[in-house]
Parts: sequence; structure tokens; C-alpha cells
Amino acid sequence: MVALRGRQARAVLAVNLVARQDGDAMKHPEQSGDHGTSTSSQASSSEGTAVPQRQGKGHSERDEAHAPGLSMDGARVGGRSAPSRMAPRATGKPPLPRVLAVANQKGGVGKTTTTVNLGAALAEMGYRVLVVDLDPQGNATTGLGVNARNLDASIYDVLLHDVPIEDCIEPTNLRNLFLVPATIDLAGAEIELVPTFSRELRLKRAVAAVLDDFDFVLIDCPPSLGLLTVNALAAANEVAVPIQCEYYALEGLGQLLSNIERVRANLNPGLSVTTIIMTMFDARTRLGEQVVDEVRRHFGDRVCRSVVPRTVRLSEAPSYGQPIIVFDPTCRGATAYRELAKEVSGGAPQRVG
Ligand SMILES: Nc1ncnc2c1ncn2[C@@H]1O[C@H](COP(=O)(O)OP(=O)(O)OP(=O)(O)O)[C@@H](O)[C@H]1O
Ligand SMILES: [Mg+2]
Repeated sequence: MVALRGRQARAVLAVNLVARQDGDAMKHPEQSGDHGTSTSSQASSSEGTAVPQRQGKGHSERDEAHAPGLSMDGARVGGRSAPSRMAPRATGKPPLPRVLAVANQKGGVGKTTTTVNLGAALAEMGYRVLVVDLDPQGNATTGLGVNARNLDASIYDVLLHDVPIEDCIEPTNLRNLFLVPATIDLAGAEIELVPTFSRELRLKRAVAAVLDDFDFVLIDCPPSLGLLTVNALAAANEVAVPIQCEYYALEGLGQLLSNIERVRANLNPGLSVTTIIMTMFDARTRLGEQVVDEVRRHFGDRVCRSVVPRTVRLSEAPSYGQPIIVFDPTCRGATAYRELAKEVSGGAPQRVG
């Protein structure tokens, strides 16, 4: 039964990815196409593992593509000049500040859980982190203990009413971790944005204005490929894709990758999928391992070696408005997200104090 489902999972993956597995959207700008190394032996750990970082080559192409303050046509936005970005290259990771869109149009795969907990773990490491809640469900907002009813402004006002993003940045209970909250108003934004000027670049321009203040900006996308997600992809340098270690989890991935490719071609040439995060891994079933192995076979070392286990503590934490490292600092979920933060950051020295 399990073996059959494993074969089916592979079939689903093959169908969805066949058009995209060599697509440009998956290529790191410095990548030469030799990323096929499977690290599946690490996948069986349900807690994730410490990771040797890939030693990077130069990042010059990426540096140019992502100079903050530049719009896609090279015009400066936000009235700032791009500061020097002396990248910590030894880590093999893109230079700080990094803007990651956490995206997967499939619902319930762990986008918000990953955004909140990866953000918190990065903040605990000393990085200044901004979480942008771009989902009308507002789950990242409540998950970080911010009550949407008490807000004067939210991401909706930033996108639709040109409210400066700094006017709606909220502190959280964790030092170094900040939030741009979302309210249910955002549900109308997909439609309200349609007639607005440069509707795809509104978030990019807003984020550019505060980028100097942060090391990481993590954007929690809604489960759709509409204008909100396009805004996130246009604002980001990188895409992080959480994939649930479940049957059918890979469905729709091809569609996501084609959309990323479209944004890359039309709005954001430097965008690349750098980070694939396997979530809700259940060590008791073979299916989870098979899905992880299959994803690694296709995406190589873009798949994080730290795998997030399925644990009830991770699903309980949001109702207390706390990231897992605060809610239960020693549980498996907290350990996994700490490992993930080490891996994603590559241990880069903090850029802002
Ligand atoms: N590792 C995990 N172990 C157990 N439960 C988890 C884990 N990760 C997420 N969950 C739970 O699964 C559900 C979906 O997770 P989450 O909200 O992060 O997904 P999402 O992709 O953001 O969903 P949506 O597409 O609706 O925005 C939530 O109830 C969450 O608490
Ligand atoms: Mg979510």
C-alpha cells in the first residue's frame, strides 16, 4: 500500500514538474547546473540536522539584480540610494538583506508556520527580521500575538492607500522580530489592486523603504497565485517553498514554478527559488521519506536538509500568539526551526545592529 502510494507520489511529481524541472526560475543566478546532489540520507531525521553550507561562488550578478531601492527598470524608488551591500560571501548564501517570499498556492502546507517560526528563530540568532503578513486570513499576525482589531494601519493600507510601511510595523514579543500585520480588509485587495498604477510593484516599493533596517524580510503569501502573491514575488529576491510531506503535496508545484518564471521574466529578473522546506514530516510513515527523497532528487541542495516534523506543539503555538521557540523552546518543532534558521542564514554576520 505504502509502496503504491510512493509510486503514485512520484507520478504526481513527474507530471507536475516535467515542464519546469529545468526551468530558469529554479536556477540560482550563480548556479551552473550541478545541483543534483541528493542529500536524502539526511532526510530521515524528523528533527532536521546541522548542515554543512555550500561554499558559494561569486554573487556579482545577484548583487546587481537585487540592489535595493531599484525598481525593475533601474529607476530608483523610495528616494534612497542603494547602500553598499558587502555580502558575507563565505556562507554561500545570497547577501543580506534577503527578502524571501514564502509561497505555495496549495493551502495548509506550512507557509505561515514556517514564516513565523523561521522568522523567530532568525531573530533569536540576532538577525533583524520583518515578517510581512500578505494573507487576508491574517494567520501570521495572530500567530505573532498581534490583535488585528487594535491596529491603525495594516498591509492593506500600505498597498491600497500609500500608507508608509513603517507606519504599520508592529513589534512582537521577541526582540528583533517585527511584523507588518494583515487584516481581513486585505481580502478585497486582489480586486481593488486591479485598476491601480503599478499594481504588481506596490509591495516592492514599500519594502524598499525599510530594507536597510532589516537582515531578513519574510513574506507570508496567501494560498493563491493572484496579485498579492505576484506582489510578494516581485518584492522578493528569493522564493521559499514549503512542501508538506504528504501524498498530493506536490500537486500544483509546476504551476507555481511557471508563475515564478513569469514574474522573473516580466518584473523581477533576479528572482530565484533558493529554499524548499519539507514540512509536517511524519517519521512513522514511509510516505514522508519517499516524498522528501523525490523532492531532493528533483531539486538537489535547494531542499533544506532540516526537515520540519509534524508535531502538535507547532499547531498549538499560534493560538497562544507565540512562535514555537517561545511557546515550547525545547520541543522538536523548536529544534527543527532553529536548525532551519541556521541553514537558511548560512551563519551570515548580522548586517544591522
Ligand atoms: N510541522 C507541523 N506539525 C503539525 N502541525 C502543523 C505543522 N506545520 C503546520 N501545522 C498546522 O497545519 C495547519 C496549516 O499550517 P499553516 O497555516 O502554516 O499552512 P499555510 O500554508 O500557511 O496555510 P494557508 O494556505 O491556509 O495559508 C495549521 O493548523 C498549522 O498549525
Ligand atoms: Mg498561511
